[in-house]
Amino acid sequence: MNYKTNYMSNYHIKHLEEYYQVYRKSIREPENFWEEVAEEHFMWRKKWDNVLSWDFSKPDVKWFEGAKLNITENCIDRHLVTRGEKTAILFEPNNPDEAAEHITYNQLYERVCKFANVLKAEGIKKGDRVCIYVPMIPELAISVLACARIGAIHSVVFAGFSSKALSTRINDSDCKMVITSDGSYRGSKAIDLKGIVDEALENCSGVKSVLVAKRIHSDIEMKAGRDKWLQPLLDEASSDCKAEIMDAEDPLFILYTSGSTGMPKGMVHTTAGYMVYTAYTFKNAFQYKENDVYWCTADIGWITGHSYIVYGPLLNGATTVMFEGVPHYPDFGRFWEIIEKHKVNQFYTAPTAIRALAKQGNELVDKYDLTSLKVLGSVGEPINEEAWHWYNDNIGKKKSPIIDTWWQTETGGIMISPIPFVTPTKPTYATLPFIGIQPCLMDENGNELKGNQVDGRLCIKFPWPSIARTIWGNHQRYKDTYFSAFENKYFTGDGALRDEVGYYRITGRVDDVIIVSGHNLGTAPIEDAINEHPAVAESAIVGFPHDVKGNALYGFVILKDFGETRVHDNLRNEINQIITEHVGPIAKLDKIQFTSGLPKTRSGKIMRRILRKIACKDISNLGDTSTLLNPEVVQEIIDNAL
Ligand code: WTA
Repeated sequence: MNYKTNYMSNYHIKHLEEYYQVYRKSIREPENFWEEVAEEHFMWRKKWDNVLSWDFSKPDVKWFEGAKLNITENCIDRHLVTRGEKTAILFEPNNPDEAAEHITYNQLYERVCKFANVLKAEGIKKGDRVCIYVPMIPELAISVLACARIGAIHSVVFAGFSSKALSTRINDSDCKMVITSDGSYRGSKAIDLKGIVDEALENCSGVKSVLVAKRIHSDIEMKAGRDKWLQPLLDEASSDCKAEIMDAEDPLFILYTSGSTGMPKGMVHTTAGYMVYTAYTFKNAFQYKENDVYWCTADIGWITGHSYIVYGPLLNGATTVMFEGVPHYPDFGRFWEIIEKHKVNQFYTAPTAIRALAKQGNELVDKYDLTSLKVLGSVGEPINEEAWHWYNDNIGKKKSPIIDTWWQTETGGIMISPIPFVTPTKPTYATLPFIGIQPCLMDENGNELKGNQVDGRLCIKFPWPSIARTIWGNHQRYKDTYFSAFENKYFTGDGALRDEVGYYRITGRVDDVIIVSGHNLGTAPIEDAINEHPAVAESAIVGFPHDVKGNALYGFVILKDFGETRVHDNLRNEINQIITEHVGPIAKLDKIQFTSGLPKTRSGKIMRRILRKIACKDISNLGDTSTLLNPEVVQEIIDNAL
């Protein structure tokens, strides 16, 4: 039987009818569909025995079981014959006067192998966890790939996180090694990263060695027996390193994401499914063509960087730009300058950056030639209508479609998104499910909302290859968080609506995660940090709309001794200082209101719904407050709202 129509030679879906055709096939025969994608496009040491087995009630998902492979052979080795001299990674430094670095596939092979050999010499073996706390310099991408080369599980921690956040993550996954740098550049600032690592490691007894890349050439302390400069080790290492042969379901990496309560969740992604899905989505979502230059402005410390700076592009033999700096340095024209300089064809960024840049007007945009652009992407939070139009009109000149891509750390790859030049776009809508993705909307009673023009909780009904397989060390929490709200479905934590033609619009989180400038922040760790302040008795955090950040944080704080108001400004600074130390500067509060109480239910739960409305200045309908333990406090909070 010849059931295979050739999807991969139709790798680029060309029109809407074809999208529906391929989509229907991917839903009716998911195993056949993904098997064909897997067969045609990758290098396997051994093919799978079984394409998919799954049971969301456990939950347990396995793709391509029995297959053997190494993802770096697919990202690098496979391209050497035809693309050896092509630029794989195009590094654009923070300082525009410093030359960009073009790392070819041949050079990438050599640098990854050398790094992998250094890891081995330091005693790192398959299955060991390695924490990577490195700024956006080539060593970051290379160390990720070096881990994958030898089967070590990388856990990248965004280099803007504090020492406490870093040590929590290092300990949670028992990392043996930390890779870092002597510092990092961010615009006009230089940051002492190694100092943060040293502080973190005071609480991490499992870390035996620290490898330090040189970036800012600062004079730092090296702890004898633990810390080593990376470069001399690389200079000595052999430039060939045989790839470790991995099972399809061997973990590839851990990446932490915030939950609404407690510890960050170490999402575990495995090898084969993640590879197949990120490669396929990259190619189709960005319509990447050979010789295009692709740029995603995210940090590799987030899932967007893992999947769509490193793995997705390299799996397709693409040229991927890696930018060390920030959008406003040396001025707000930097992004546009880089697009002109490197003739960027696909540009992928976040709504918070778009809003910040739109605020600057068009003078700096018009200075640069942006005609190379073909596709514009958006990710991380809902894009508001104004930002969408500004992006579409001024950056894309109404010619480059915007793909508003909805997905999550947990999903590994893009889940709902237009396909450029295929799916008609609609401002603020992520539009249609990607090939193979079966979304549904649920009401609060657990019923699926059928038909269109409905609004509910966004779930996914069927596994896709890059779904996270577990939370590191806590499978029960994985089950409770994602598979318990609705039977036999993956619950995303987002609300969404479906319009009359079946387009999805993501309306935002329905749990206690707040997205600030595209960063997911759980309320609990921030409240825990605030409560560490000796003057604080209790606190609650909610989000409120902010014209650049999307959401900003509003804290309601009960002091042990309410005291005189003139000390309150100092307290506000101290609270933000504690948050910076515990969580990181991204979690600082924009507003802090001191209050004598917080609205609570009779069971003692804080009614955030009410606080959220007050923070949003939407007090016309607070709902029923009569069931509160302390209804009188609501009026006090309203009267003193900031
Ligand atoms: C939100 C980022 C609306 C959403 C890849 C999701 C979005 C969370 C969009 C995951 C979008 C991401 N439109 N909301 N296009 N993309 N989100 O794990 O709430 O950092 O659940 O992954 O960001 O954020 P994460």
